[in-house]
Amino acid sequence: MAEWSARVGIVVEVWALPEGDVPDLVARNLDATVCEALANIERHSRARTVAIAVTVGKNGLRLTVSDDGRGFPPGTTGRGLSAMKAHFAGVGGALTVNGVPGAGTTVRGLIPPGALVPPAVEVLA
Ligand SMILES: Nc1ncnc2c1ncn2[C@@H]1O[C@H](COP(=O)(O)OP(=O)(O)O)[C@@H](O)[C@H]1O
Ligand SMILES: [Mg+2]
Repeated sequence: MAEWSARVGIVVEVWALPEGDVPDLVARNLDATVCEALANIERHSRARTVAIAVTVGKNGLRLTVSDDGRGFPPGTTGRGLSAMKAHFAGVGGALTVNGVPGAGTTVRGLIPPGALVPPAVEVLA
């Protein structure tokens, strides 16, 4: 994250990354989502600042990536946006990407608590 920030010249504020506490598959999908969000910010946003928050609470895991860039019009679609939604849907969550023209973009994802329980390991007798 620090390297990305230095390379693209956009300030990153990270609020929490408690990835050790979630199943591997969830962590991998979360990483892939944050990567695509940052790729979009680098490529499209002209933002000065991006804030990334990952929190785990009683409502599940919540991801927010918001930038103060130029946003995009409603109805915009693309592979990256679809892929981020698929990363969350694939682990039982949901994600939305909201661009406001001239006012930035926010990626919001939620994975409910039930989807954060690691798969049971079969114990052989
Ligand atoms: N953070 C962002 N700031 C501004 N525009 C964005 C941002 N994220 C996505 N977009 C817009 O949404 C479009 C679709 O994004 P995406 O599906 O990732 O495709 P791609 O990045 O290959 O263009 C982008 O082309 C861009 O116009
Ligand atoms: Mg993209």
